[in-house]
Amino acid sequence: MDKFQEFIGSSSFDSRLAPYDIIGSIAHVKMLVHSGIISGAEGKKIVNGLESILKDIKKGNKISVAEDIHYSVEKELIKRIGSVGGKMHTARSRNDQVALDLRLYLKDEAAGIIELIENVQISILNQAQANIKFVMPGYTHLQPAQPVLFSHYLLSYAWMFERDKSRINNCQERVNILPLGSAALAGTSFPIDRKYTAKLLGFKEVSENSIDAVSDRDFAIEFISVLSIIAVHLSRLAEELVIFSSVEFDFWELSDKFTSGSSIMPQKKNPDSAEIIRGKTGRIFGDLFAILTIMKGLPLSYNRDMQEDKPPLFDAVDTTRINLEIMAEIISTLKIKSEQMKKSNEKGFLGATEIADYLAKCGVPFRQAHEIVKQMVLFCQTKGKTLKDLSIEEYKSFSKYFNIGIYDKILPKKIINEKKSYGGTSRDSVSLQIEKLKKLVKK
Ligand code: ARG
Repeated sequence: MDKFQEFIGSSSFDSRLAPYDIIGSIAHVKMLVHSGIISGAEGKKIVNGLESILKDIKKGNKISVAEDIHYSVEKELIKRIGSVGGKMHTARSRNDQVALDLRLYLKDEAAGIIELIENVQISILNQAQANIKFVMPGYTHLQPAQPVLFSHYLLSYAWMFERDKSRINNCQERVNILPLGSAALAGTSFPIDRKYTAKLLGFKEVSENSIDAVSDRDFAIEFISVLSIIAVHLSRLAEELVIFSSVEFDFWELSDKFTSGSSIMPQKKNPDSAEIIRGKTGRIFGDLFAILTIMKGLPLSYNRDMQEDKPPLFDAVDTTRINLEIMAEIISTLKIKSEQMKKSNEKGFLGATEIADYLAKCGVPFRQAHEIVKQMVLFCQTKGKTLKDLSIEEYKSFSKYFNIGIYDKILPKKIINEKKSYGGTSRDSVSLQIEKLKKLVKK
């Protein structure tokens, strides 16, 4: 292929569409026979030829190369069965063909990505169940806020991933539409039966407007935007894997398999794998911006610019897949350091809100209770004490409602078990979450 041919072609990056292209062509040819457009004998020859090419591709054998995957398959078919292979392209165009291939590809990838998300959810669920007793500081603004169960904290990610799955499924409603039969842009004068093709390929609907069907890529944009949201979730989890494995927090340790040393500092154990997941987020966002920019301002209908939709789409899918695979393994091999969490529970006045709530329950207006506890915290800070170090006399000097029972109320475990509100961090609420999630993660 000369430089210009290579430049305008997509064969350097669209070969992964080959199986979808062939499956789509087989269905198309069967429809052509069904509608009486080509003979049964011709159809049989073509289908057999396509099946033999598919077999070879699956074995990893090379086929002819032309400008793009559609021409490559056709060239190979004609090489194998002769000129009758040229009848395959009756009543269609590469424009509806490429839209079909992409939709078939995304239907497949959606199922694969959902499975990988579920693997991450399973590793989260396993850690949450195994470590359900552990209490850690919950943060807002990365400042210690209130104690929470470690499991409650980690399960929050499982719920984010649950919504990601539902976004993928929802997006499938718009992927699962057959564009084939739109031909170049105007439809065709051949008496095709699009519903028949849709049925053969498992599409829920057929597209309503041939111009729209060959010219839009909103389904691919939407898919990458869903992948971008997954990347946001993964990058936040990755960030916490990094920060909470630092000496300063030391809440957990990543398995050696997912860390590496420094070439100069012998003491280092760097959380590279989590950092790379976090870093790859930039690529996926870039892919989203690439496809949005490619499509922006294009006149109807098909334009060759749209050929450039593939590299970002494939890259976003591949990057998401590897991110999910690695994340599932990092989580399942994570060593939780409950003693370190326990030490951190002593810092940061995690019981302050509890004391204010106690006063409010005694009838002190909450705003006033808040102020009293604020003064208590300031007092502790000047004395270098924690709330549990204050004597009962000191407590009473702040409010007459305090009694000896207050020490019990600010024990982290006690605080946790008071949070019985639905979706809260009490042991019972968290156990309920685990049961619910287990049902949603079908494996
Ligand atoms: N390789 C092309 C693509 O990926 C296929 C469609 C070509 N259509 C055309 N009218 N040149 O978009």
